[in-house]
Amino acid sequence: MNSVDGLQDTLPPVCRTLLIPLVARARGGECFPGLACDDTAATHLIDQLDLDLQPYLQDRATVQNILWRTRVIQEAGKDFFHEHPDSLGVNLGCGLSQHFQWLDQGSNRWLDSDLPEVMALRARCLAADTPRQHHAELDLRTPGWWQRLGLPSGPAHKPVFVLCEGVLMYLEPQQVQAVLAEFAEQAPPGSQMVLDTMSQVGRGMARLHPTVGPTGAQFLWCPASNDELTRAHPRLRLRHSRSVAECYGWLGAVTEACWMPWTGTPMYAMVTLTV
Ligand SMILES: C[S@@+](CC[C@H](N)C(=O)[O-])C[C@H]1O[C@@H](n2cnc3c(N)ncnc32)[C@H](O)[C@@H]1O
Repeated sequence: MNSVDGLQDTLPPVCRTLLIPLVARARGGECFPGLACDDTAATHLIDQLDLDLQPYLQDRATVQNILWRTRVIQEAGKDFFHEHPDSLGVNLGCGLSQHFQWLDQGSNRWLDSDLPEVMALRARCLAADTPRQHHAELDLRTPGWWQRLGLPSGPAHKPVFVLCEGVLMYLEPQQVQAVLAEFAEQAPPGSQMVLDTMSQVGRGMARLHPTVGPTGAQFLWCPASNDELTRAHPRLRLRHSRSVAECYGWLGAVTEACWMPWTGTPMYAMVTLTV
């Protein structure tokens, strides 16, 4: 038996969703060569898994969303660390992702964090800490996580790059508001938080999603507008929001223009908040 056999049967539902982006980053480039991210860590991990990849790769819309968001994160992270080369990046709900392979700029630091079950799994199948990359257990539902992670707080510290991809939609709306408020309250000025949002039509509909449905996880937080993101705290500012519609050129733009009056937000978007 290898180190991650039976993975999908042992993790709680919301943790099982980590396989979806892992497979997309490892093999999704076969479906969307223009968005391939060359994730060597994910490719190596997938080789260890006793996993039927076909259901994941057949969910092409999700694969495309994840490859697109990976590109958006790479761009945002590189820009941030170019400006703040000694700063810290933290991945909240990291799953089995390895973004520091792309965002290591030589002097910045990185912290990967997730629920204890996932961090135990990471310890079994991903390389141990290095001097500039660490890991820690996290539960975003319990207030005080910023301090428990030992993240810098207050105006004397350098800005922090916070990533939270594919996570917040699985929390209750009031839990998300508390997460955003804690970031706003604690993060040094100039810090950024990159997160993804789903349209409100997705709320409670995870059973219809080809790859999330089988995990048993549910979409709980799907904001009706970007105001919901900044409302959590007066320090929060919307830096930018990008829609996945950009993958579809003019057809995406037209479809989205028809869609937005009803939904208030894009079908799927990457948002950067700042304080
Ligand atoms: C779809 S996966 C995304 C994983 C990773 N961000 C990626 O893109 O590969 C959702 C992740 O959110 C994590 N998660 C869910 N609820 C959480 C919580 N309350 N605190 C921390 N992490 C959580 C899960 O354990 C899981 O790893």
